[in-house]
Amino acid sequence: MYQDFAKVYDHLMPSEMYNDWMEYTEQVVGDVSLHKVLDLGCGSGDFLQLVESTGAVTMGVDISPEMLKLAAHKVKADLYLQSMLDLTGLPTASLVTSFCDSVCYLTQPDDWLTLFQAVHDFLPNQGWFLFDVHSLGTLANFDDFMYRDQLEDGTDLIWESEVVEEVNRLKVHHHLTIYQPIETKEHEEAHFEKKKEHHIEVTYSMDQIEMMLKQAGFNQVNVTSDFGQEVASDSSERLFFACRKG
Ligand SMILES: C[S@@+](CC[C@H](N)C(=O)[O-])C[C@H]1O[C@@H](n2cnc3c(N)ncnc32)[C@H](O)[C@@H]1O
Repeated sequence: MYQDFAKVYDHLMPSEMYNDWMEYTEQVVGDVSLHKVLDLGCGSGDFLQLVESTGAVTMGVDISPEMLKLAAHKVKADLYLQSMLDLTGLPTASLVTSFCDSVCYLTQPDDWLTLFQAVHDFLPNQGWFLFDVHSLGTLANFDDFMYRDQLEDGTDLIWESEVVEEVNRLKVHHHLTIYQPIETKEHEEAHFEKKKEHHIEVTYSMDQIEMMLKQAGFNQVNVTSDFGQEVASDSSERLFFACRKG
C-alpha cells in the first residue's frame, strides 16, 4: 500500500484541498501555531507543510516509507514510520489531526475504536483531535468506479474500485494499475513498467463513529461536512469530526 502509488500521489491531490483542511483546523482550534501538532497518516506531508508554516512544532506518523520519504523533503517535522494505532512513546502534542480519509485505511473490525482510544490516551486535557473520513454515501459511490489519468511524465494510472457491504460498515477495494515509462533511447518505442497496488478502505455511519468516539472518552464531538461549512449526513461527501478531550 502506498508504494508505487506514492510516486503519483502528489500529482493527483489538488493543493487547494490542503488549504481547506488548514482553514478548517484554524476555524476549530484558532491559532494553530500555539499547538504542538501530530498528523496521523501524514502521507507525503502537504498538510504538515502548511502547519509548519505557522511556526507550530510538528510531528508526522505514517505506515508507508515511500510517503514519509516524500514528506521528509518538504518538512522539518519529526516523522515516525509506524502505525497510528499505537502512539505510546511519541512526544506529546495538543492537536492531533488525520485528514484525507487516512482513518478509513484502518480496516480491522476494532481498529477505529483502538485509534480513538489511543488518541484520547495520548492527548492532554483540552487537547484536540480533528479528522475527516469518507461517508457511507461516498464509499457506496465507489462501486464500479473507474478512473484513468496520464501524468506529465507519461505515467498512466488506472484506478478501479468495487464496494463490499459488511455488517455495520462498507468496504471498498481500490485496484490501482500504474504504468511507469522506462527510459528509452531516441527513436525507440516507449516502454512501461506495470505495477499493481491494492488499497482497502472502510467507513461507518456517522452515528456509529460518534458512538465509538464517545466509547473512547470523547464527549465533546462536533460533526460537520464540507470542511466545517455544512451540516453532516451519511450522504455528505466527507465527514469532519472535531473532538475535544475533557
Ligand atoms: C489518502 S492518504 C492521506 C495522506 C495525507 N493525510 C494527505 O492528506 O495527503 C492515506 C495515508 O494513510 C497512511 N496509512 C494507512 N494506514 C495507516 C496506519 N495504520 N498508520 C499510519 N498511516 C497509515 C497511508 O500510508 C497514506 O499515506
